[in-house]
Amino acid sequence: MKFFVDTADVAEIADLAATGLLDGVTTNPSLIAKSGRNFLEVVKEICGIVEGPVSAEVVAMDVDGMLREADIVRKLAPNVCVKLPLTLDGLKACRKLTSEGTQVNVTLCFSANQALLAAKAGATFISPFVGRHDDVGFDGMDLIEDIRLIYDNYDFATQILVASVRHPIHILQAAKIGADVVTAPPAVLKNLAKHPLTDRGLEQFAADWAKTGQVIA
Ligand code: G3P
Repeated sequence: MKFFVDTADVAEIADLAATGLLDGVTTNPSLIAKSGRNFLEVVKEICGIVEGPVSAEVVAMDVDGMLREADIVRKLAPNVCVKLPLTLDGLKACRKLTSEGTQVNVTLCFSANQALLAAKAGATFISPFVGRHDDVGFDGMDLIEDIRLIYDNYDFATQILVASVRHPIHILQAAKIGADVVTAPPAVLKNLAKHPLTDRGLEQFAADWAKTGQVIA
């Protein structure tokens, strides 16, 4: 499973990229606003930090506007992935862009039927939002299971990119279902490495090693 980080914070991205475990980055207009940076500048900078896809979202609501913005965004770097909303205009733009070889991430997916349409439109990634689904009383992981089943039934190549991830259990469940990618905030990704028994064991080993008086040299 690929790990993308869901942020426009360049320092956090560089920190995670240094682990060698980061496969890509996703941003959205809210994350760009939070960064306080210029959209095109920050996307270009992120594309230089990671080799994998960097999702950059257009804000136009109509197909012509989306394609105009996408054309500016995709020229920033070869690893830009244009992020489009799951609307009929977004799907039209998706079909056009992917047929030209541009990577597309279709976002704001909340139903399996929407995911089916995105796959038929040739999307590179579909982004179902699990956390926001949970927020309104539905199990977001049911959606991931349904999409996995449908995509496997028809051998769709569209990758399931689990978004709106809030905690490590979401990532565990996504991996068990066989999602292709998860995107999560930096803190959630870093928490995957943590376990209190690891910390306790490490303290014990360090204390016992100190008693030996040895050094490894
Ligand atoms: O980038 C889309 C998604 O990951 C947003 O997450 O936490 O704002 O629902 P959240």
